[in-house]
Amino acid sequence: MHSRTTPPSAASDVLVVGGGIIGLVTAWRAAGRGLSVAVVDPAPGGGAAQVAAGMLAAVTELHYGEQTLLGLNVESARRYPAFAAELAEATGHDLGYRACGTLAVALDSDDRAHLRELHDLQRRSGLASEWLTGRECRRLEPMLAPGVRGGLRVDGDHQIDPRRLAGALVVACERAGVVFHRAMAERLSVVRDRARGVVLADGTELGADLTVLAAGSLSGRLAGVPDDVLPPVRPVKGQVLRLTVPKPYAPFLSRTVRAVVRGSHVYLVPRENGELVVGATSEELGWDTTVTAGGVYELLRDAHELVPGITELPLTETCAGLRPGSPDNAPMLGPTRLAGLHLATGHHRNGVLLTPVTGDVMAHALTTGELPEEALPFTPRRFDGATPETLAPPRTQHVTEQPA
Ligand code: GLY
Repeated sequence: MHSRTTPPSAASDVLVVGGGIIGLVTAWRAAGRGLSVAVVDPAPGGGAAQVAAGMLAAVTELHYGEQTLLGLNVESARRYPAFAAELAEATGHDLGYRACGTLAVALDSDDRAHLRELHDLQRRSGLASEWLTGRECRRLEPMLAPGVRGGLRVDGDHQIDPRRLAGALVVACERAGVVFHRAMAERLSVVRDRARGVVLADGTELGADLTVLAAGSLSGRLAGVPDDVLPPVRPVKGQVLRLTVPKPYAPFLSRTVRAVVRGSHVYLVPRENGELVVGATSEELGWDTTVTAGGVYELLRDAHELVPGITELPLTETCAGLRPGSPDNAPMLGPTRLAGLHLATGHHRNGVLLTPVTGDVMAHALTTGELPEEALPFTPRRFDGATPETLAPPRTQHVTEQPA
């Protein structure tokens, strides 16, 4: 266990800046190791999880050049059943964890070629994925468009409801003795080259032996963090729709269905409670979280091409959130070059999937000062000395133009 220094009386062993799912799981797991933990966030349980669809898509979201990240994604997916069971047990909450699998389909020959390449990459990476004809896809999911040309059946890519996950993590933290400061951290305190907690807008000091910056897309904006330590995180906007499947239509879809339509990813995630989440745009527009007619139109258009019956369903919600993008699409976990400051941020498209492994990795790092083996490639130190060119978004990043 990490030895306590002699902090002020109000100080904790660990102060987590950011109460989204990544900050909360870090706090919960650290408290489970016997550390005194506080979280500072104006609205714990909020953040990108309120928008995310909750796909646990280690296999279907595999991208070229991300094989290292794949290892962490697969490891987190492996830990999910036990993690979800433990969290449900600790809180009495139903997390909407559903081992339903995913079907990734192709609508035209370009999509099919793309999916064939993905299938090759999956097989070379040792992942379980089965090629199906269009007819076999429709046999599994009868609501699919007649024009579906083929698909990949991935029985290991599941889903969870991120809103319920966030709510349960708040309760789990409270039960584990985590203290919540419902306020915005204004500035990191650095004393004699060591992070010592944060200062709030009203001047209140929250002292800590170890501070974890887990503020999602805002992680690169905390004042007081030295420039060479500030994480290279940028906001990547995602717009998402929620529809409801009325009882007579159920089951509309029995598993997550996804496709790349004209170069854009679209996915439909059916929950057991009748909610159907359609996502998501991926837009590099800074801090903008406007839901646009263009974004909603594109999602509905692409989802309708996949599953024409979707137009019959009530549209119950539209929303937009910001993924914490990183230069290599992978998270930054563990100690930084500033003593006393850890990061748990930059999870980009995989925050929900990486929640279990992030909690374990951060608890290990906070108690030992070291990263466990599986997290070594994700040290924030990999960006030490990086230039603006090396910090640019990866070329594979899909960018949606702002609608005119
Ligand atoms: N992982 C899904 C998304 O980021 O849209």
